[in-house]
Amino acid sequence: MKRRHLTALALATSVLLAQPALAQDNVFKIGLILPMTGQQATTGRQIEAAAKLWMAQNGDTVAGKKVQLIVKDDTSLPDVTRRLAQELVVNDKVNVLAGFGITPSAMAVGPIATQSKTPMVVMAAATSSITEASPYIVRTSFTLPQASVALADWAPKNGIKRVVTLVSDYGPGIDAERFFKDRMLFNGGQVPESLRVPLRNPDFAPFLQKVRDLKPDALFVFVPSGAGAAVMKQFLERGMDKVGIKLIGTGDVTDDDQLNDMGDGAIGVVTSHHYSAYHPSAMNKKFVAEFGKANKGMRPNFMAVGGYDGMRVIYEALKVSKGQGGGDALLAAMKGQIFESPRGPMFIDAQTRDVVQNIYLRRVERKEGQLHNVEFDVVKDVKDPGKAR
Ligand code: PHB
Repeated sequence: MKRRHLTALALATSVLLAQPALAQDNVFKIGLILPMTGQQATTGRQIEAAAKLWMAQNGDTVAGKKVQLIVKDDTSLPDVTRRLAQELVVNDKVNVLAGFGITPSAMAVGPIATQSKTPMVVMAAATSSITEASPYIVRTSFTLPQASVALADWAPKNGIKRVVTLVSDYGPGIDAERFFKDRMLFNGGQVPESLRVPLRNPDFAPFLQKVRDLKPDALFVFVPSGAGAAVMKQFLERGMDKVGIKLIGTGDVTDDDQLNDMGDGAIGVVTSHHYSAYHPSAMNKKFVAEFGKANKGMRPNFMAVGGYDGMRVIYEALKVSKGQGGGDALLAAMKGQIFESPRGPMFIDAQTRDVVQNIYLRRVERKEGQLHNVEFDVVKDVKDPGKAR
């Protein structure tokens, strides 16, 4: 009697336990780790909004599975990113890891993606070597070498021969500095000084004073998304433009998230990048309009487009693999995707798992009452130059 009772209890318990497991089979989980607070919070806000827009436009059922987005705030501290990724893989059993606002956060999670065979979609971080941190990494953002080389080809042809570089002192900044400088020298230009500022709480003033003394034709800047407005403000306050020093850089400095508030002092700044909210395609116009409508008029920046396209890559991979075959099948279906993005054409190189895309040269102009990065030239289908080394 007692025994039968126990068996019944065991059966009931196992049914109870089995139920969530059954339901789980029909759920496809995306663990989206982003800096939602702290210095990089604008990146988190932009990417979360873009991922949600993608889901609102494309539904939350793919290959018969319910897509669930689990957003976690890593405050852009890599130890936190690592812990969250571990929890998402072990406890939540996510099918994909995504997001990664800064390079150290992406690097910290590479080994977890490899060990658990979980595809990891890097939507923001942009140091060239990130894709080598795990064979499970696919990138939908950009690389700093991609953006920097195009500008170093443009500058000497346009009267900018002597350039001082100023970059944030970590992965993407060091990539930007190296690839910009090498290409400038190759093109017969000069880079008399390369300055690096700390990533956390940078004070640009002493560096700008040094640049003023060196009096180059231009100052090339890389700072991560969210820090551009501070650089622009101090550059103008010190009257650098008045003494004939131009500001140039990768498009991170004239970030669409902040550009409109930078004031007319930003007009004329030339940058190179893969995305402008002013990109004149029908697809981008729709993207910008619907992003704004869903987010109190917010303008999408290059981080948003990395998140939006990352969701596209995940959805398409789920569709093609029909939700079968786990992480490896999903990863295989991510490689080689080719599609139109709001940024223009892009594809995921199957060999490198990195993005190949157009890099545009843009100038800040006032258009329809707003400050925009207006594209005036394009280098087509640029592969990451960092991969050739
Ligand atoms: C990075 O940490 O890789 C990073 C962050 C922000 C950017 C670009 C690169 O705008």
